[in-house]
Amino acid sequence: MTRPRAGGEVAVIPAVQGDARYEVRVGPGVAAAVAPLARAHDSVAIVTARPVLRSPAARRALALLSREANVATTIVLPDGERGKTLAELERAATKLLRAGCTRRSLVVAVGGGAVSDAAGFLAATFMRGVPWAAIPTTLLAMVDAAIGGKTAVNLPAAKNAVGAFHPPSAVLADPAALATLPAREVRSGLGEVLKYAALRPALLGRFARLRGALPDAALVAECARAKVDVVRADPTERGERKLLNLGHTFGHGVEAAGGFSRFAHGEAVAVGLAFAFRLAARMGRIGPLAVAEIEDAIRAAGLPARVTPAVARRAAALMGYDKKRTAAGLRWVLPLARGASWTVEWDVSAPPAAVAAAVREISDRSK
Ligand SMILES: NC(=O)c1ccc[n+]([C@@H]2O[C@H](COP(=O)([O-])OP(=O)(O)OC[C@H]3O[C@@H](n4cnc5c(N)ncnc54)[C@H](O)[C@@H]3O)[C@@H](O)[C@H]2O)c1
Ligand SMILES: [Zn+2]
Repeated sequence: MTRPRAGGEVAVIPAVQGDARYEVRVGPGVAAAVAPLARAHDSVAIVTARPVLRSPAARRALALLSREANVATTIVLPDGERGKTLAELERAATKLLRAGCTRRSLVVAVGGGAVSDAAGFLAATFMRGVPWAAIPTTLLAMVDAAIGGKTAVNLPAAKNAVGAFHPPSAVLADPAALATLPAREVRSGLGEVLKYAALRPALLGRFARLRGALPDAALVAECARAKVDVVRADPTERGERKLLNLGHTFGHGVEAAGGFSRFAHGEAVAVGLAFAFRLAARMGRIGPLAVAEIEDAIRAAGLPARVTPAVARRAAALMGYDKKRTAAGLRWVLPLARGASWTVEWDVSAPPAAVAAAVREISDRSK
């Protein structure tokens, strides 16, 4: 569902998540829709992080809110994962309380996935739950983190260990906000865009043609739509939502093998996607053309499809030390040939020999 608007198309994607209904809007100027939503609440608590304020689009959203709504407080979280802690949650909730926020207040997250996870969890828990809206400012948050109502903070021992399902009231993604995004964050987002293209192969050609540049609003909207569809089918991650972990099983291993600093999340996901396709080919689920297609798209985006043998071995040893490991062993999200293309299945088990072979194939001995 799209309607024309000055400066480009705006996609309005209706999201349904259990009893909750909300709109994901993608396109130029969509953040303006936060004003009427904010005015429908007694007061607004803005949650953001300092680097986000480099973005003129983010600053415009904040200015609009302070002009059009009753902003009780603005919380500037420590950046990234450091903002996703119980200590910061306590600090933020205390600020809301002192600023006079009530159950009729609205929390507005302006930032990347770290901000929307933390702000969403603040909204899920403050006064046993207040509504929230997301104005995502990273590519990853626009296509993934801000949609679907999964909110969380970290514990020192584990990421996202304390959280809640709390769907937002609106997600307003203006790709203009991405202009100031650091290159590493662009690559991180592109890894997720590629994941959606692997889930919906019709998008692969459009992804490859980007050659590593930022996607336009239409492609961002297609990815957001893919996430909305999966969340609608499976609001609490019992089945179909596991599709979103495509490329993430080995990818998380790669991230961990690089000490969570060497690889951007999206780079690790790209390697993980190449791994998943190679594993699927080893298992006879897809042919070599599908592997070539995904690896061409990875390379076209300037993302890695290979790692050094040492990283591959470490990743293989480390993968599975996450929530997707079940008592019955690792369960994979893998493609399966269908006609000239493929479909993707979850909860697939793989023979250890095929996994070992894929680890060897993903290893680039020249590195
Ligand atoms: N809830 C979910 O379903 C879900 C899904 C995927 C990821 N996540 C979470 O999302 C987080 C990662 O999100 P992310 O990749 O957006 O990281 P992030 O929020 O840490 O943002 C990355 C960096 O970019 C900066 N930034 C944000 N917008 C900017 C802009 N427009 N211009 C310049 N700088 C800007 C941030 O301040 C930060 O330094 C992780 O904590 C992850 O667990 C959640
Ligand atoms: Zn991811």
